[in-house]
Amino acid sequence: MKVLGIESSCDETGVAIYDTEKGLLSDQLYSQIALHAEYGGVVPELASRDHIRKTTPLIKEALSEANLQMSDLDGVAYTRGPGLIGALMVGASIGRTLAWGLDIPAVGVHHMEGHLLAPMLEDVAKGQAQSIDFPFVALLVSGGHTMLVHVKAIGDYAIMGESLDDAVGEAFDKTAKMLGLGYPGGPILAALAEKGISGVYDFPRPMIRQGGLDFSFSGLKTHSLTTWQNSDKTDQDKANIAHAFQEAVVDTLSIKCKRALKSIEAERLVIAGGVGANKRLREKLNELKAEVFFPPMQFCTDNGAMIAYAGAIRLKAGYREEAIIQPKPRWSLEDLPTL
Ligand code: KG4
Ligand code: ZN
Repeated sequence: MKVLGIESSCDETGVAIYDTEKGLLSDQLYSQIALHAEYGGVVPELASRDHIRKTTPLIKEALSEANLQMSDLDGVAYTRGPGLIGALMVGASIGRTLAWGLDIPAVGVHHMEGHLLAPMLEDVAKGQAQSIDFPFVALLVSGGHTMLVHVKAIGDYAIMGESLDDAVGEAFDKTAKMLGLGYPGGPILAALAEKGISGVYDFPRPMIRQGGLDFSFSGLKTHSLTTWQNSDKTDQDKANIAHAFQEAVVDTLSIKCKRALKSIEAERLVIAGGVGANKRLREKLNELKAEVFFPPMQFCTDNGAMIAYAGAIRLKAGYREEAIIQPKPRWSLEDLPTL
């Protein structure tokens, strides 16, 4: 089954084709980073307008990369939510209408389920996705979400803990902005952290003394700001703060992952979402006594491949939806049907 996937929930337009027999056939991505950079963050209206401009050309590119015609497609998957409503409407309208015109099934994919299944695309270069045995704990760390999820089967998700304020990616981005590092801040701050000296600052690990699995990252952002204001404001101070911030975040995530694995006696941990690209996080989580899975780097941040893949699994299992365009900007993973 050849499934076209369209991702348009935020600031990347992703279009890919996943074949349930042959694996990923094409993967096209257009990032709006340059468009939003001058505003220091995503401007929703500009994002929607750019998705409109880019989606159909990218579909053409994806078809040509896969050496396919439109009529070869067997299904369409698009991101239904969560995300920016205007941006979601673009992918949903194009995807749903295309499927209607071609008389093939379509499925609206949950963006976080896409991220969650992306680590299974690890072996895609060899033509097939790798399977990860259930149950496992998933750590979802993106610009909008920080969650620990008990994954019992595809679609059977129980949220074990989540952030009470800023998502991890958001905390990275806001801290980077305060330090004047540019946009998008996460990867820039992570690169600067490598130049920081260990032990100069020791930032708190939020909410680890309480027994639970929830997170809070907004305090670390404020802590970084006051530390910066009280420093000599040299480049090395900045790098030291970036380093201490990253260590605190990564350590906190690692402590909670360990706790989550223990609480359900799981042996496998799956990391997904943009912050999953963070090298220090990868190092630290690989030290845990568990089998740890990360998505390939290019599938950590938003992309069309994860949507095509998650959609293909649901379509192959017979999941169908009505011909109605209904994006869901807010949508809990727990409300998804189990496969
Ligand atoms: O999953 P994603 O592409 O988009 C959302 O669904 O939100 O995640 C984007 C987030 C941004 O906050 C970005 O700064 C962060 O992931 N990010 C990183 C790194 N690469 C991306 N954060 C820390 N270290 C990185 N290397
Ligand atoms: Zn995402």
